[in-house]
Amino acid sequence: MTSTSSCSQGLAPRTDTDAWWRDAVIYQIYPRSFADANGDGIGDIQGIREHVDHLAALGVDAVWISPFYPSPQVDAGYDVSDYFSLAPEYGTLAELDALIADLHEVGIRVVIDLVPNHSSDQHEWFRAALEAGPGSPERDRYIFRHSADGAPNNWGSLFGGPAWQPVEPLTGRSQDQDWYYLHLFAAEQPDFNWSNEDVHEHFRTFLRFWVERGIDGFRVDVAHGLVKAEGLPDDDLGPDRWNVVAAEGEDAASARDKLPDVGPAFNQPGVHDIYREWRSVLDEVGTDILLVAEAWVPTEADAALYVRADEMSQAFNFPFLTAGWDADRLRRVIDVSLSEYGAVGAPATWVLSNHDVVRHASRLAYPADMDTDPGIGPKDPQPDAELGLARARAATLFMLGLPGSAYLYQGEELGLPEHTTMEDEARQDPLWERTNHLIPGRDGCRVPLPWTRDGASYGYNATGRTWLPQPEGWGEYSPQAQEGCEDSTLTLYRRAIALRRELRLGRGAVEWLDSEPGVLHLCNGTTGIVLNTTEQPVVIEGAGQPLITSWHRSGADAVDAAGVVVPPNGACWLDASAGGTDGGDPR
Ligand code: NOJ
Ligand code: CA
Repeated sequence: MTSTSSCSQGLAPRTDTDAWWRDAVIYQIYPRSFADANGDGIGDIQGIREHVDHLAALGVDAVWISPFYPSPQVDAGYDVSDYFSLAPEYGTLAELDALIADLHEVGIRVVIDLVPNHSSDQHEWFRAALEAGPGSPERDRYIFRHSADGAPNNWGSLFGGPAWQPVEPLTGRSQDQDWYYLHLFAAEQPDFNWSNEDVHEHFRTFLRFWVERGIDGFRVDVAHGLVKAEGLPDDDLGPDRWNVVAAEGEDAASARDKLPDVGPAFNQPGVHDIYREWRSVLDEVGTDILLVAEAWVPTEADAALYVRADEMSQAFNFPFLTAGWDADRLRRVIDVSLSEYGAVGAPATWVLSNHDVVRHASRLAYPADMDTDPGIGPKDPQPDAELGLARARAATLFMLGLPGSAYLYQGEELGLPEHTTMEDEARQDPLWERTNHLIPGRDGCRVPLPWTRDGASYGYNATGRTWLPQPEGWGEYSPQAQEGCEDSTLTLYRRAIALRRELRLGRGAVEWLDSEPGVLHLCNGTTGIVLNTTEQPVVIEGAGQPLITSWHRSGADAVDAAGVVVPPNGACWLDASAGGTDGGDPR
């Protein structure tokens, strides 16, 4: 389907102005790496159940659970072979029901991953499509094309190599000669054909099925990719985006700037029709069901189109994530986001880490203009852990002071860094193989969590088996090591989330105050929010006493006679209602 979407101007006013997700803090669980109850080295649903108390103490409003469906795990579960079940290694549907009940019991809502751009090649539909042959209705559910002179167009897979897989080598049948199917990601992830009514019906059923099971929302994978431009024209990047870029002789960072998902495979107007369809399904079966778009589109204005009143609820704010340690870029993103999302009546969202990017406790230790998108390997410059953690704590505290909704990625509440020295043999991300080991990939942010100071896998399980290796010293980041410690990152997150709720910062607004270059100072209601990205301490005069600070503290050193002293790489919240500083003790 490549129809031009109807324009949404003149929509009825939004009815979701009190929806729970507007100011929610949503915590991403990557189930393979969260906790492993049965010791096979793979995280599971029981493992999550055993740590619901951690989530409750953290104070998050919802969890988003990355895919847990049956899958050959070519792309860590983003290759789904059955959309209505649970992978046996993760547990049973009954266990999932119990987890949903446990979470609801403590007031945490449950968001799950919806993967509509592609299935696994082991999905029954794709197996039937290969079996049925050219021109069949089974093949029409995917994007098969005949081309006698090589691939049907020049598109490359986002994971490296061409985006077209020849069919004949798979079936061994001569009728499949010169036939190809499209896969924007791995060859084992064939793209659905969203012009096909079966595909629409399948996902309508999916939404109903999971809402009936108690699910409160959906994170929509590759939300900008479902509809391709009519005729599948060539794009500007060519068949191997990672390698071709390198071959052009440009330096890697500026070359990779070209890699946002643009071109005829992405962000086509027709995708919006699909989300309107889903919204109407969800409005029939539930109230305020969250739909959040994973759409790596060029601008905030593009992203805002996905959250018009009759489409999704939210879109991830990737420009915020990629702004780096740069006050001007952050301020610009905040202003543009509030204005673009505000114009369509949607809340802005904020995010610093997820399972696809270098953890911000490491990423922010690098120069702001360094592109860490390919991941970090042992041969790359290594981050300064102390600097990264100081900046990560500050960035998070600043983020949690903004109005809208915030997304956290498991382990960031522990200050976990990226595993930047993972040995090559351990890598599982398809990016690594598909780019002929040019790109380390995303494994470094997906390492199993530490729960205890000691033990073979630091409490991830009892056997010490882990699907990805944990680095040395991981236990120092565990909740056990941080519990009860005034200055720990875990304590900071818990307090900030609680205070954010108490002060209703998620429902507030941004009013910028004057500040020095490299310093951001805003008022959200009666709370001052300050971020110092410079290498010098800054004094915030007459701004009220600190409520919470990102830096390790001793005594009342945040306040001197002139005002609040914010150290380099620090952030704090100030009680601006009282006015002035009286040396009060921050929490
Ligand atoms: C985005 C997901 O976040 C990522 O992990 C995955 O590889 C791609 N979509 C393909 O599904
Ligand atoms: Ca397990």
